[in-house]
Amino acid sequence: MTAAPSPMMPESQAPGMSRVVAVQDQFGAWLIPGRKSPPSKEGGYSDRADAAIERGVRLCAELEAGNILFCDREAVNLYFPRTAFPISAEEREFLLGQKQTSAAYHKNIAYRPGEDRVTGLDKSEAAEAERLRKILRDYSQRATEFLEKLLPPYAGKWKLDFASYRPLEEKGRPARTRARNDLPHVDSFPTRPTNGDRILRLFTNINPSKNRVWITSETFEAIAPRFAEALGIPGAPSGHPAAKWLRALAHRSSRLLPGLAPFIRRSPYDVFMHRCHNAMKEDAAFQAECPKQRWEFPPDATWIVFTDCVSHAVLEGQYALEQTFLVSREALVAPERSPLAALERLAGHSLTIPAV
Ligand SMILES: [Fe+2]
Repeated sequence: MTAAPSPMMPESQAPGMSRVVAVQDQFGAWLIPGRKSPPSKEGGYSDRADAAIERGVRLCAELEAGNILFCDREAVNLYFPRTAFPISAEEREFLLGQKQTSAAYHKNIAYRPGEDRVTGLDKSEAAEAERLRKILRDYSQRATEFLEKLLPPYAGKWKLDFASYRPLEEKGRPARTRARNDLPHVDSFPTRPTNGDRILRLFTNINPSKNRVWITSETFEAIAPRFAEALGIPGAPSGHPAAKWLRALAHRSSRLLPGLAPFIRRSPYDVFMHRCHNAMKEDAAFQAECPKQRWEFPPDATWIVFTDCVSHAVLEGQYALEQTFLVSREALVAPERSPLAALERLAGHSLTIPAV
């Protein structure tokens, strides 16, 4: 463990800022996904399962308050393998070796679980793409199983979004302003509107020797008034029959209109969150003045954060894996802390669209 402050020294938390919560055991492993009836209390299982659920609720509350869950092998090596869930030596070797042998890598190599395919590689990389597809598919499955055990309140109540591999050094990586990772921002995906569901991301630093360096700033709850004033309070969703018909059509036709449907389906919440993502990066005064905390995530660390709530930026680091979950807002343990709730308090009306 290096750095000051490090993720293991989180106690000075200013209002609206994040702290890191260390996860030091695998108690949630007593929960087996899909198991309908746990063994009897005589076996001790149910008591442990109850405690795991209780702990899961507590960890969910920490995440929803804007804190970061952190699993570090130095802190937890009695319980975890090298990482929070296994990544084999062969998988690491392949991932770390690719950058040296290929100039075709993009900023992000994404695995789409719903389609079981990889994007972000040139067509000439077909053999590599196949190996990567398998590695990212396995990572995605292990990350999902890990979170099902760690965060039972969310288990099965999420939509599995993309997994990604980030093979490029972040420090000094050229990018246009809105695509820069080194400027504090909250996440919003224009092509995957959430309608108030949450963006939960799990990261693993697979760099063998270098930390992944983040800064975090204030949570969305704290910055919402500033950007609502700058961007304007979002209006209520249109209840006009034509708008409803168009949204229903986009929902049914998302495969036929893949480029257009997500934009028609966006709620006022989604529109605001994406504008906020851009405005935060483009606001030079905000970038200069916002309070910042620096975090260094060492090799093999895994960390979990609601990135639609925590303002975050990546300053340095190369070789990270990541899995995104879109957590249903119905599953939240403290929905009043969500970005949607914060924005609706400012707006005074609903910002979501009814389910089709
Ligand atoms: Fe981000």
